[in-house]
Amino acid sequence: MIGEDLLGIAPLDRARIELILETAERMQEIAGRDVKKVPTLRGRTVVNLFFEPSTRTQTSFEIAGKRLAADVVNFSSNSSSLSKAESLLDTAKTLDAMDPDAVIVRHRVAGVPQRIADALQAPVINAGDGAHEHPTQALLDMLTVYQEKSRFEGLTVTIVGDIAHSRVARSNIYGFTKLGAEVRVAGPPTMLPPGIEELGVKTYTSLREALEGADVVMALRIQLERLTGAYFPSVREYSATFGIDRAKLRFAKSDAIVMHPGPVNRGVELSNELTDDRPSVILDQVRNGVALRMALLYLIAGRRMGEGI
Ligand code: CP
Repeated sequence: MIGEDLLGIAPLDRARIELILETAERMQEIAGRDVKKVPTLRGRTVVNLFFEPSTRTQTSFEIAGKRLAADVVNFSSNSSSLSKAESLLDTAKTLDAMDPDAVIVRHRVAGVPQRIADALQAPVINAGDGAHEHPTQALLDMLTVYQEKSRFEGLTVTIVGDIAHSRVARSNIYGFTKLGAEVRVAGPPTMLPPGIEELGVKTYTSLREALEGADVVMALRIQLERLTGAYFPSVREYSATFGIDRAKLRFAKSDAIVMHPGPVNRGVELSNELTDDRPSVILDQVRNGVALRMALLYLIAGRRMGEGI
């Protein structure tokens, strides 16, 4: 909950999502200034507690906190007492005893941010947990789509790739369906989890059918380091069947945009050309990630929910 924790999109109602997106739009004005800093969170402390690698999420939370004048501490698990067998929860409680105003948690195991939130006084923001949720990624994706399309109702959002292992897919499914968009998921049958339709999405094993009439095409990262062979025969075959290039994109609407949470396996999920150029909005997603995380820190670390925006 805003003012407390943000552990997923599933618990948020439409009004809360819209409040976060409206706040993020206001934060974007700061990014356009010559001096990109305001004193809003002066005296507040934000701890980045990342147990998994991250470029976009960790850096943008750090920049977001600094633009709001918060003190941002990046916890390094490698050089911490975790290497002396201190438990995860003891580590989190130790940091909590230093009175942070928000703790940002990423972990490879689903449910860890929830467990930490249950044990801490400070509000916790989930920065991605296993295949469960990545709420801040989905919120920045929603912000990017709104800025491109000026609406959610009536849009068709097609998510392509490894739906089964993707926290980004899950959070975006929750978010876009709550906002009134139609969500389709497409991929090899091994990557479409049984029962995913219960989340209100349509499933496709034909990329062409999934793309027909789509306004938004979101490709997901294939975890090549873990999945090849077990879920699809070869990278070449995946790319030929589900990789998106300009020729395949013609099945979508002529003004469709292309998204990817990053990092992109170039030539696998997206062609080089589509990764770099319009209608790709990948770098807009990254840019919006700073404003979106500023909004969350303002609302959560600043405990501003009761005051509106
Ligand atoms: N999209 C995303 O979560 O990227 P990072 O792993 O670089 O944070």
